[in-house]
Amino acid sequence: MSCCCEKKDPNQEAVDAVLAKYKGTKGALIPVLQQCQDIYGYMPKECMAQISKGLNIPLSEIFGVVTFYAQFHLNPRGRNIIRCCLGTACHVRGGAKIFERVQKVTGVKDGETTEDLRYTLESVACIGACGLAPVIMVNDDTHGRLTPDKIPDILAQYE
Ligand code: FES
Repeated sequence: MSCCCEKKDPNQEAVDAVLAKYKGTKGALIPVLQQCQDIYGYMPKECMAQISKGLNIPLSEIFGVVTFYAQFHLNPRGRNIIRCCLGTACHVRGGAKIFERVQKVTGVKDGETTEDLRYTLESVACIGACGLAPVIMVNDDTHGRLTPDKIPDILAQYE
């Protein structure tokens, strides 16, 4: 049996609920964007369009905010975020070689996400664990005193 009514996808419905909650509220854009990004895991274009309509804010303005703040992501993110430190302390202790090996093992470069969405790779400047240099973080875990050969086993722990 076919149905004549067009069903919205559950993500769009969840975005509608967020929009309804903030309708008419001043300064709603950032919290709306944060909550909508939590729904998708990133900020797809169609979601920005829905927010633009719902809050009556031009799409160009929303795009400007999303691209300005590092907390918003235009592309899907991996299940595991790898942060490779390239700060000074890590650099002098071979951070570049660690970064190189991480790129080789994952097959992606800085800022990219693997096709299977297993990893997103980001370089950072100091994650506050200089005493353990060279350091990477995977999600909330800090891995320090690294050598390139330790990288495959560390990354294998993260599905
Ligand atoms: S420079 Fe790498 S943790 Fe500080």
